[in-house]
Amino acid sequence: TVSVTIAPAAIGFAAVAKNKNDVVTVPAGYTVTIGGRTGDPIAAGVAAYANNGTDTNFAQRVGDQHDGLNYFGLSATGTRDDASSTRGLIVQNYENILTQYLHVGGSTSPGGVRPESEAIKEIEAHGVGVLEYVEGAGRSWAYVPASSFNRRITPNTPMTFSGPVRGTDYLVTPYSTDGTAGRGTINNCANGSTAWATYLTCEENWAGYFRRSGDNANRTAKEITALARAGVSSSTGSYGWSTVVAADSGNTLFRRWDARATTGGTATTDWRNEPNQFGWVVEIDPYVPTSTPRKRTALGRFNHEGCWPGNMVAGRKPAWYMGDDAQNEYLYKFVSATPWTANDAAATDRLAMGDKYLDTGILYVAVFNANGTGEWRPLVFGTGPLTASNATYPFASQADVLVNTRLAADALGATPMDRPEWTAVNPATGELYLTLTNNSSRTPARVDATNPRAYLDPPSTSRSNRNGHILRLREAGDTTEALTFAWDIYAFGAGSDLDPTNINLSGLTADNDFSSPDGLRFGRASNVSGQNKPFVWLQTDDGAFTDVTNNQMLLGLPGSVNDGGTRTVSNADGAGGTVTAVTRIGAAPGGNLRRFLIGPVDCEITGVDSTPDGRTLFVGVQHPGEGGTPTAPTSNWPATQASGTAPAGTRPRSALVVITKNDGGVVGL
Ligand code: FEO
Ligand code: CA
Ligand code: CA
Ligand code: CA
Repeated sequence: TVSVTIAPAAIGFAAVAKNKNDVVTVPAGYTVTIGGRTGDPIAAGVAAYANNGTDTNFAQRVGDQHDGLNYFGLSATGTRDDASSTRGLIVQNYENILTQYLHVGGSTSPGGVRPESEAIKEIEAHGVGVLEYVEGAGRSWAYVPASSFNRRITPNTPMTFSGPVRGTDYLVTPYSTDGTAGRGTINNCANGSTAWATYLTCEENWAGYFRRSGDNANRTAKEITALARAGVSSSTGSYGWSTVVAADSGNTLFRRWDARATTGGTATTDWRNEPNQFGWVVEIDPYVPTSTPRKRTALGRFNHEGCWPGNMVAGRKPAWYMGDDAQNEYLYKFVSATPWTANDAAATDRLAMGDKYLDTGILYVAVFNANGTGEWRPLVFGTGPLTASNATYPFASQADVLVNTRLAADALGATPMDRPEWTAVNPATGELYLTLTNNSSRTPARVDATNPRAYLDPPSTSRSNRNGHILRLREAGDTTEALTFAWDIYAFGAGSDLDPTNINLSGLTADNDFSSPDGLRFGRASNVSGQNKPFVWLQTDDGAFTDVTNNQMLLGLPGSVNDGGTRTVSNADGAGGTVTAVTRIGAAPGGNLRRFLIGPVDCEITGVDSTPDGRTLFVGVQHPGEGGTPTAPTSNWPATQASGTAPAGTRPRSALVVITKNDGGVVGL
């Protein structure tokens, strides 16, 4: 590895101008290389991707809609080497699919009977991938198409359950009659990692994949409440996969996506509990392709968006911070019951370390006070309102509390947030950062200090927090074990031209205005050569600003909680009345935040990591061209990257991009 000096940390590039070009734009002095794209082969003998809808066998190809990712170093001899910056495994989520580009003529409707071949392809294009990447001559990076480390984890991959819900009735299905096993993971959005070098993938919008409506007569009242709270309500499932087989079929690959508990169901057709098998954090050992992923039920079940560890301190109980991405949902942290032993970082049975630290502990939900303080309330069965005598939601066990995490958090009075997306931790201070991407339901009646904006932003005619913000939290005593904290708001998204009193509260300029913050991660090179100068990557998933610019990634040099002041937000825009809120706002990011990258048309920028030396950055480009059709795609990327153009009609593909600085330095500094 190469030692790089950062003295002092400073933003080392000129801001990229907002644009709607169909390429990835980075600052002068940087180079973009395209890595694994949707459909690229990851095993020997798999045909090159034709990209015309005829391709099959996604279980041996890169999946679709690249999302959260993590780099795990490999030595020259192919063993785990956390310090390696020249060879590694990149584990990445494939969150969803663009069906219009997966099939020859687009996609059949989820309301009809789906062709088996289409359903197989769609299912296998979801999940997670492990790909080996190596640095070649001239600092060019590429994945190794036939590496023995390469692996696809799909919604069909066998998994086991760990923690308090393992072996309970909630998880019993025709596939697992004792509730200890299941198959696959789906809608994997953000991610996390562990100090023992495993990957944590998070199941976000899993609810929509199930067919469910119309079975209330065969459900308990608690089940109906829980399914409604989770949003398991589709009459077809997002892609209609269950329609491939008949309702009385004993098939377990397609029938499982129909979760209706119908009268007369048999043991082989009653998949009523299959939705309970999703909504978890899943631990994967990237170094052992044959390892079975473990679903860690102690971390709760909701729309998991990221699972980021607090700083690991020997002798202290470690914590992982997690958002629940839906409007007016909550922020959680899991605190292990087991104090950290530093030697465990080098353990060779990595999933056993997950058993040690992630299966026993306490899940907490955040309550924010208007005065800049807050508390973590425990989701522990038998305490507070989490008992059988709760009149609204009676709880029967800790497994019940965890399967129905949102109901338990409701009972505890958690603070509803503007869609909690990624969590990130400042390696120098341990402070937690949380993106709150936007909220069209943040009505004036629901404004609070932590979620203070409900403004009109024409042409929208309803009040909302259209542009989102980033909250920051400092634990009492700077320990992951804390039960209380201080908070403020690091940055408010806004167009630089918007009302500085009520909307552009962070004073954003043309060099750093953004909307809908989502991906968030501190750079690994924050502490190269002991400089201890943290910097944070911020990615957007925006619909409010895309008339001006494609989605983007910025770099920020953060301060610390309460480095700004208290401020009253009036939301007085002269068009629809006034609401007020008091918030604690950090020092305006102003010159400490700068736009580094713009993605291609119709994409989201999501997922970021670097090599340990910070000299190579990996970024996910998700669903370019998502608004297009097979005959009229709105993007042709990444075929456009080299020259800016591609043959008309070229289908777009999600991809990983590799970014290096031409002078060999740390990317961004
Ligand atoms: Fe998959 Fe919350 O974004
Ligand atoms: Ca996201
Ligand atoms: Ca998002
Ligand atoms: Ca997206």
